Amino acid sequence: MILFLLGLRILKVVNALVSPDGTGRLPAMGWNSWNEYACDISEDVFVRVADLMVHLGLKDLGYQYVNIDDCWSVKGATRDNVTQRIIPDPVKFPGGIRHVAEEMHARGLKLGIYGDAALGTQTCGGYPGSLGYEEVDAAAWSEWKVDYLKYDNCNIPQEWVDVPYMYPDNGGRPDGPVPPGYDWSTSNSSARYNRMRDALLAQNRTIQYSLCIWGHANVAAWGNATGHSWRMYSDIYPAWAGARQGSQALMPILNQAAFYWNVSGFWGRNDWDMLEVGNGNLTLEENRSHFALWAALKSPLIIGTKLDAISPEILAVLKAEEIIAFNQDPVYGAGAMPYRWDGVGNDTHPADYWAGSSSRGVHVFLLNTEEVERDMELVFGEIPGLQEQQPSVRRGPYLVHDMWTGKDIGVFSDSAVLRVKRHDTAAVRITTAN
Ligand SMILES: *[C@@H]1O[C@H](CO)[C@@H](O)[C@H](O)[C@H]1NC(C)=O
Ligand SMILES: *[C@@H]1O[C@H](CO)[C@@H](O)[C@H](O)[C@H]1NC(C)=O
Ligand SMILES: *[C@@H]1O[C@H](CO)[C@@H](O)[C@H](O)[C@H]1NC(C)=O
Ligand SMILES: *[C@@H]1O[C@H](CO)[C@@H](O)[C@H](O)[C@H]1NC(C)=O
Ligand SMILES: *[C@@H]1O[C@H](CO)[C@@H](O)[C@H](O)[C@H]1NC(C)=O
Ligand SMILES: *[C@@H]1O[C@H](CO)[C@@H](O)[C@H](O)[C@H]1NC(C)=O
Ligand SMILES: *[C@@H]1O[C@H](CO)[C@@H](O)[C@H](O)[C@H]1NC(C)=O
Ligand SMILES: *[C@@H]1O[C@H](CO)[C@@H](O)[C@H](O)[C@H]1NC(C)=O
Repeated sequence: MILFLLGLRILKVVNALVSPDGTGRLPAMGWNSWNEYACDISEDVFVRVADLMVHLGLKDLGYQYVNIDDCWSVKGATRDNVTQRIIPDPVKFPGGIRHVAEEMHARGLKLGIYGDAALGTQTCGGYPGSLGYEEVDAAAWSEWKVDYLKYDNCNIPQEWVDVPYMYPDNGGRPDGPVPPGYDWSTSNSSARYNRMRDALLAQNRTIQYSLCIWGHANVAAWGNATGHSWRMYSDIYPAWAGARQGSQALMPILNQAAFYWNVSGFWGRNDWDMLEVGNGNLTLEENRSHFALWAALKSPLIIGTKLDAISPEILAVLKAEEIIAFNQDPVYGAGAMPYRWDGVGNDTHPADYWAGSSSRGVHVFLLNTEEVERDMELVFGEIPGLQEQQPSVRRGPYLVHDMWTGKDIGVFSDSAVLRVKRHDTAAVRITTAN
């Protein structure tokens, strides 16, 4: 028995959250209420979204989680005075959360919920947090048949702050004071998130665990032993470049991602935040770049737009089958890496040539960060996945295939030139032509 328990513990720490049913092995796909509905949520919103996910064909492409974000409970520090559980808002969720979960399951979908690793009082929106109540809350979510938890990081009490700290989302504020070789897995942040991990693992239910920790305490170094994905940076907002009230637009996030490309793998993913495809002032090309690059990074693909009256163009972006296939590849766990920088690598001109391998070939994503249409060059000799192959495979000529249209572009020997619109991303698959 002791050996058995010891074995479990080691499995847990060394092997990430590996579950027999495969939950969390690939980046999560689904929909979340925050970007479009904020606190204006109700059971009706989620049931309607679930119907649309089925009806629009999103479920068939792998989008399966329907995630409730903040504001689902009775506000304040209120808990049930007998069970100590958080109380679902009886107006927004008259049938309770379990009823919503059952509605999702009846449609072949899954339900996600939201919590915060703060003391009893405060999620980001001022609803009860779970610090100190991990077991009570995990047991409730499990009993309610919840399948996914997004666990946020607002309102950390003073006695839990990190002394060596790292806040990449905080306007370039330097880290400090970090001793050389510091082990971030011993941080207070890691301890807060591990408490919920242990509470979830103690349930007789597999719950995907998404850490919304904004890159704090160098989560890239320990997230894989704690959850299935971990937010790496500030909240996203739907604009191409710039920052607004602590949120970052697409290009600054991509620039940050370019320096952490090698952290994601099976069972554990950098999360560059939920999709804004379809929101704000993005152009069609910007909507496309956002989707292609988040997929290339192997970030979770969580839709954040209204599905009612969604435009055919936006739906087509979210349903780009070959782009999704790269994100969900069952054989290659790593995301794409930046391999050539025509831009300088800053918050308006981040890395623009990205490459990654999948079971279907080598893929290149060419992002035009310029304000005008331009030619971008595929030089086969400099593309990482192609170079690493056996000489017989490495040799051209190569077939270049357009992942957006599903059509072949042509056969080329040493290089190919692609015309890319302002702020668009060309996505191609390269295989040996024979
Ligand atoms: C995370 O852990 C899993 C399971 O042990 C492993 O396959 C994967 O490579 C790890 N990811 C990273 C980025 O180390
Ligand atoms: C417990 O909560 C119920 C219903 O919310 C309330 O009627 C009751 O007075 C509370 N009991 C205590 C001891 O606070
Ligand atoms: C954790 O928080 C406690 C209480 O504020 C503090 O004394 C300790 O140094 C912190 N530990 C780390 C590793 O940051
Ligand atoms: C755990 O869940 C499974 C499937 O839902 C069920 O068959 C089993 O009885 C449960 N075990 C315990 C200990 O509750
Ligand atoms: C990722 O790359 C950085 C910098 O090159 C390196 O320090 C780190 O060990 C790498 N991490 C992994 C998981 O390979
Ligand atoms: C990209 O998304 C935004 C928000 O829905 C929309 O206004 C814009 O028209 C989209 N691009 C196109 C051409 O569909
Ligand atoms: C979209 O553009 C309008 C008008 O320029 C501006 O007021 C608004 O803040 C922009 N929205 C976003 C999300 O950037
Ligand atoms: C990034 O670099 C380019 C080229 O040097 C420059 O034009 C642009 O203003 C820079 N952007 C930022 C956010 O510094």
